[in-house]
Amino acid sequence: MTILVTGGAGYIGSHVVTVLLAAGRKVVVLDNFCNSDPSVVERLERITGCPVPLVHSDVRDRERVADTLRRFGVDSVIHFAGLKAVGESVSKPIEYYGANIQGTISLLEAMQSEKVGQLVFSSSATVYGDPGYLPIDESHPTSATNPYGRSKLHIEEMLKDVALASPSWKIVCLRYFNPVGAHASGLIGEDPAGIPNNLMPFVAQVATGQRSFLRVFGQDYPTSDGTGVRDYIHVMDLAEGHSAALRFVADHPGWNAINLGTGRGTSVLEMVSAFERASGRPIPHEVVDRRPGDIASCYADPTLARQLLGWQATRGVDDMCSSTLAWQKNR
Ligand code: NAD
Ligand code: UD1
Repeated sequence: MTILVTGGAGYIGSHVVTVLLAAGRKVVVLDNFCNSDPSVVERLERITGCPVPLVHSDVRDRERVADTLRRFGVDSVIHFAGLKAVGESVSKPIEYYGANIQGTISLLEAMQSEKVGQLVFSSSATVYGDPGYLPIDESHPTSATNPYGRSKLHIEEMLKDVALASPSWKIVCLRYFNPVGAHASGLIGEDPAGIPNNLMPFVAQVATGQRSFLRVFGQDYPTSDGTGVRDYIHVMDLAEGHSAALRFVADHPGWNAINLGTGRGTSVLEMVSAFERASGRPIPHEVVDRRPGDIASCYADPTLARQLLGWQATRGVDDMCSSTLAWQKNR
C-alpha cells in the first residue's frame, strides 16, 4: 500500500519521503510547487535510489487527488501542503484560509470518496499561543493570534469532528515545535525565498557570507541570557516521528494531537554559538529591539509522543547546525 504525501517536495515533506522510502514504504508525492521546485523530487530519487512518483497538482483539485488515491492504491495520507508564513498570512488571509482550510476539506472529500481514512496532519506549536506554562503538553489551552495559526486550529477542530463522525477515520495531528537542520546528504533542506524570517536559515546565510550579520531580536526576555528560547528539532528526527505516527494511526481510530519536540529549550545566543562551532567562524550579530508578536520561551513536553508513538528526538544542536551549513553550501 502507498502513502500520499501532499506537499512532499517541501522542506519537511521531502525529508519524510527519505525516511519512508528507507523503511521500504511506497509513496506518491503531490505538490503544486508554489514553494518548492520539481528538482527536489529528482534529488529524492538520487538520495534513496527509488523512483518517487509525482503528481503535479493543487491539493484543492479534488478529482485529481481522488484519482491519485485510486491509481496508486493509497491507504494513508500525510498532509503537508499549505502556506506557512505567519507575517504573510496577516496580509493575505484569503489565500491562507483557501490553501490551508479549503485544501484540507478538499483532501478529506477525496479521501472519503475513495474510502481512505488514515491521516497524519502537519500542525504546529503555534496553536498554543503565548504559553501559560512550560514545558507545553497537549492539554495546554489553544489559541491563535494570526490567520496562519487560526487555520491550523480550525483544521485541528475540523479533523476532530470528522474523526468523531465515524470510526473509519484515524487521524493524528502532529504539533511541530521548531524544525531545523537538513538531510545528511546535503541535497535537500530548507530553501526559503527572499530574506529568511526564521533564525536558522538566516544564521546559515550569515555563516556562508550571503548576509553580513544577524539581528538578535531582543535581549531583555526573562530567559537565561535574555534572548528568546525555542525547542529546535532536527528535521530528520521530525521525519522519523511521522513514520512512527503512521504506524500508530494504522490501529488507532479517532483523533489525537501529539507534540513533536525535543523538550529542550535553546536560546538565540546558544544557537549562534553552536553555529560558530559548526562553521569554525564567528557569526557577527547585533542585538536589536524585540520582534513584535514574539514570545520569550517555548518548548515541548514530549512525553506523549514517547508513550503513544515510541518515538523521541535523538539529534542535538550541533548536528542541526552542521547539516544546515552543509546544505547551505550546496545550494
Ligand atoms: P514548505 O513550504 O517547504 O512545504 C509545503 C509544500 O506544499 C511545498 O512544496 C508547496 O509547494 C506545497 N503546497 C503548498 N500549497 C499547496 C497546494 N495548495 N497544493 C499542493 N501543494 C501545495 O513548508 P514546510 O516547512 O515543509 O511545512 C510543511 C507543513 O508543516 C506546513 O503545513 C506547515 O504549516 C507545517 N509546519 C511547518 C513548520 C516549519 O517551521 N517549517 C512548523 C510547524 C508546522
Ligand atoms: C516561527 C513562527 C511560528 C512557527 C515557528 C516554527 C513567526 C512569527 N512565528 O516562530 O509560527 O510555528 O517559526 O518554525 O514567524 N530570531 C532572531 N533573529 C532573526 C530571526 C529570529 O533573533 O533574524 C529569534 C526570534 O526572536 C526567536 C528565535 O530567534 O526568539 C526563533 O525565531 P524563528 O526561527 O522565527 O521561530 P519562532 O519565533 O519560534
